Amino acid sequence: MSTMPRESVAGSDRLAMTLPRLAEMKRLGEPIVMLTAYDFPSGRIAEEAGVDIVLVGDSGAEVVLGYGSTVTVSVEEMLMLAAATRRGLHTPLLVADMPFGSYEASDERAVLSAQRFVKEAGADAVKLEGGGPTQVSRVAAIVAAGIPVMGHVGLTPQSATALGGRRAQGRTAERALAQAHEARALEAAGCFAIVFEAIPAAVAAELTRLLSIPVIGIGAGGDTDGQVLVLHDMLGVYPGQAPRHSKQYADLHGQMLGAIGEYAEDVRKGRFPGSEHGFSIDPGELKKFEKLVSALRSPLFEDAD
Ligand code: KIV
Repeated sequence: MSTMPRESVAGSDRLAMTLPRLAEMKRLGEPIVMLTAYDFPSGRIAEEAGVDIVLVGDSGAEVVLGYGSTVTVSVEEMLMLAAATRRGLHTPLLVADMPFGSYEASDERAVLSAQRFVKEAGADAVKLEGGGPTQVSRVAAIVAAGIPVMGHVGLTPQSATALGGRRAQGRTAERALAQAHEARALEAAGCFAIVFEAIPAAVAAELTRLLSIPVIGIGAGGDTDGQVLVLHDMLGVYPGQAPRHSKQYADLHGQMLGAIGEYAEDVRKGRFPGSEHGFSIDPGELKKFEKLVSALRSPLFEDAD
């Protein structure tokens, strides 16, 4: 495999995404494209496809690391995923999700964790879940430390148990208003953008108009300022598991299974490798080698035969 420096990644003639540019996109009504990525190849493909924001989501706990929930993933694991993604990216804004347990205890702890994502993984910004008083305080502290923060309200998987499961939020007038208060508080605390997850489309549309920062939706209808999807859902890596809000654009599971099955079949039937996959040796050198190697044969071993 050949490696590529960040400067020469295809599509790098695009200008790097900035926070003012995102704000301008909201103002101009230009849809913002956000996608999750978790490693060097997915980062590089997101770069080539011209995605605006790449999120190294803690969804990676489930779709990449195989955990049963997002709360298990550690800061170290998220740092490794984010750093690998960074190496594939040049122009999209790279946002790293702060995992459960890395920011709740104190503002100081939140700032220290956020700094690790910037210093050790090269993240441009961090995201954290929830819009209660604790999270608002953490956002304000991280922003005051000079690190941009993306908020996340609605369905927040890190607190799914407390929410009664992974279900849509804001489905009554009062609960929708609670989402509005959380989103406004996160905006006031300095978030540069906010994710709305699993919120009724009409509520999300109203709140998108209410907020001056860009709103990125997932399961929040088509009237938010942008959309985000989980890479493995949209690529069909896990058949039959795509959530209702997602759209499957490929069948990678089928393609990978087909390719690996074909390879296994080729090996078992002697169809791979062919001569074109190997390397040759000059016939004279081969003769010489055969002579030399025969001297290595143990007479004892040959007697035993
Ligand atoms: O972890 C994640 O992938 C996310 C997106 C669903 C927004 O938080």
